[in-house]
Amino acid sequence: MAKPMPRGYHARTAMRRKGRRPVPLMTRADLEALDRADPLRRFRDRFRLPPGLVYLDGNSLGAMPKAAPARVAQVVEREWGDDLIRSWSRNGWMDLPLRIGAKIGTLIGAAEGETVVADSTSVNLFKALGAALGLRPGRRVILSERGNFPTDLYIAEGLAALVGRGCGLRLVDADEVESALGPDVAVLMLTQVDYRTGRMWDMARLTASAHAAGALTVWDLSHSAGAVPLDLAAAEADFAVGCGYKYLNGGPGAPAFLQVARRHQDRAAMPLTGWLGHAAPFAFEPSFRPADGIGRARVGTPPVISLAALEVGVDLALEASVAALRAKSLRQTELFAALAAQELGGFGFALASPAEAAQRGSQVCLRHEHGWPIVQALAAERVIGDFRAPDILRFGIAPLYIGFAELWDAIAALKRVMAERLWDRPAYRASPTGVT
Ligand SMILES: Cc1ncc(COP(=O)(O)O)c(C=O)c1O
Repeated sequence: MAKPMPRGYHARTAMRRKGRRPVPLMTRADLEALDRADPLRRFRDRFRLPPGLVYLDGNSLGAMPKAAPARVAQVVEREWGDDLIRSWSRNGWMDLPLRIGAKIGTLIGAAEGETVVADSTSVNLFKALGAALGLRPGRRVILSERGNFPTDLYIAEGLAALVGRGCGLRLVDADEVESALGPDVAVLMLTQVDYRTGRMWDMARLTASAHAAGALTVWDLSHSAGAVPLDLAAAEADFAVGCGYKYLNGGPGAPAFLQVARRHQDRAAMPLTGWLGHAAPFAFEPSFRPADGIGRARVGTPPVISLAALEVGVDLALEASVAALRAKSLRQTELFAALAAQELGGFGFALASPAEAAQRGSQVCLRHEHGWPIVQALAAERVIGDFRAPDILRFGIAPLYIGFAELWDAIAALKRVMAERLWDRPAYRASPTGVT
C-alpha cells in the first residue's frame, strides 16, 4: 500500500526519506536554474502552449508542434489541392506508413523493417494478438495483468471469443504475472508503463520469462514511446503497439504503430487482411496473398493528413534523442515527487507511482480520496493534469516541452487548491468523466 506523505515539513530542512541526510528545501529559484542549464530547453519553443498554462497531460494528448499546422496545410493545399491523386506516388503518400514506422522503430529500438504506422492502438492490438495466437496454435491463453489498460483487455476478450477453440483471457495481479506463465499461455500481453501509476515493466526480463515458458509477447508501448529508452531488438520482443498522440505528439487520434519481429513476419498471419497488406494491392486479385515483411500489417488506405502531423512530432523526439529525454524526465519526475513531499504534507496525498524514478515512466501519480474535484480545481488554476478512477491524480511530464519551474508552479497551485479548499465546490464534485 502507498504510504501517506509525512506531515510536518517545516523549518529549513525536509527529510525526504527516513535515514537519509536532511536536504535543503527547494525553491522556485533552484528550478529556474535547472531550466537555464537544460540542454532540451530550446525544444519548448517548438511547441505551441498557451501562456501561463502548465500542461501535465502530454501522456494523454501531446502538445502541438508549431511546425504541424504548416506541414498539414502543405499536404492539404498543395499535395491534395493541386497534385490530387498523383500525390500517392509524387508526394510519397503510399510510403508514409513505412517511412514514419521506421522512425518510430528507431525510437523504440526495433530492428530495421519491423515497424509500421497504421490504424489505432486498439486495432493493432487485435492484429498483433491474432497473429501471435496463430503462431502458438496448441495454446489457448492470453495472459495479462488485471490493471492493464481496458482497451487491451477488451480487444483480447473479443478476439478470444472470435477465435474460439477454448481461447480466453486470463487476468492476474502484477506480482503474479511471471508465475502464471504456464504451458497453456500463448501470449503475454502487457503495457510497459502502467497508464495509472507509471510503474514500468522490465521488458527484457518479462519477454525472456515468456519465451522460457514457450509464449510470445505483445507489448503496449503507448506510455513509453518517445519517453523511455527501449531496446525491442535486444529484448527479443515479438510484437509491440503504441499510440502516436501521447509522447510522440502526433495530434488527436494520430495513427498508431505496430512492430513485428522480423523472425515472425513471414509466418505471422494477420487477422485483418486488407488490400494494402496484399503482396500486390494494385493487381486487384480476388484472393489475399500477404505482402512480405511488415507490409502485411497494413490494412487500408493510410490517413495521410494525420500521418503528416504525426511525422512532425516523431521528428522532434528523434532530434532530441530518447536518451536525453529520459535523463531530463528522470530528474523531473524525481523533483516533482520530492516537491510534492515537501509542500503537500498533511493534505492527505499518497504517492501512487513507484518511489524510485528508474521504476516509473515519465509521470508521477498521487492518490487522494477527493482526486476528481482536486483535478478540476487545479485546472481552474491553469494546471492541467488528469484523473483516473478511483482516486489517482495523474501528472504526465513530457520532458520535450515541460520546464523545471513549471513543476514548482504546478505543486504551488495544488497546495493552494488544498489550503484554500478550492476543490470543495459542488461544481467540481459532479461525477468524473475521466476527460479533463
Ligand atoms: C496503454 C494504452 N493503450 C491504448 C490506448 C488507446 O488506444 P486507442 O488509440 O486505440 O484508443 C491508451 C489510451 O490512453 C492507453 O493508455
